[in-house]
Amino acid sequence: MKKDITDRKDIELLVNSFYDKVKADEEIGFIFNDVAKINWEKHLPIMYDFWENVLFFTGTYSGNPMNLHNHLHHIRPLNHKHFEQWNKLFIAIVDEYFKGANAKLIKQRAISISTVMQEKLFQSQKEPHHL
Ligand code: HEM
Repeated sequence: MKKDITDRKDIELLVNSFYDKVKADEEIGFIFNDVAKINWEKHLPIMYDFWENVLFFTGTYSGNPMNLHNHLHHIRPLNHKHFEQWNKLFIAIVDEYFKGANAKLIKQRAISISTVMQEKLFQSQKEPHHL
């Protein structure tokens, strides 16, 4: 039986499983495996804080994701297809483990943050679909 996302333990399961899926993904895995030199021990708790804050307004996250993704975009241009894949994997992982109001909410918030991120990243250029 699937349950709703109710605490940090659930967020940790979600984030860990999401990255397992992302790293194994044919379309965007390479960005996480090769392009960005990610220190996972540091990155994962940051992501727990981020999503906990998105869902429960815990105030635990105080970073600037926009700067980081802008930087990433300069190293290796991101495009709408990458984000569509990211969105797809995120929704799939939430649905795989959880069900309920918070599960619905975290998907909605993820997609809206993703949309704003793309608007900001791609505002001054044509869509680099060919990349
Ligand atoms: C194709 C889409 C995306 C790619 C390739 C991507 C990739 C990355 C990478 C490589 C990092 C850096 C990890 C590190 O070195 O510590 C990162 C951090 C992060 N990403 Fe993304 N990301 C994507 C979309 C998103 C979306 C849609 C969200 C939110 C809904 C998001 C939220 C974050 C956050 C919160 C961080 C941590 C920032 C910090 O350190 O404070 N990302 N992402």
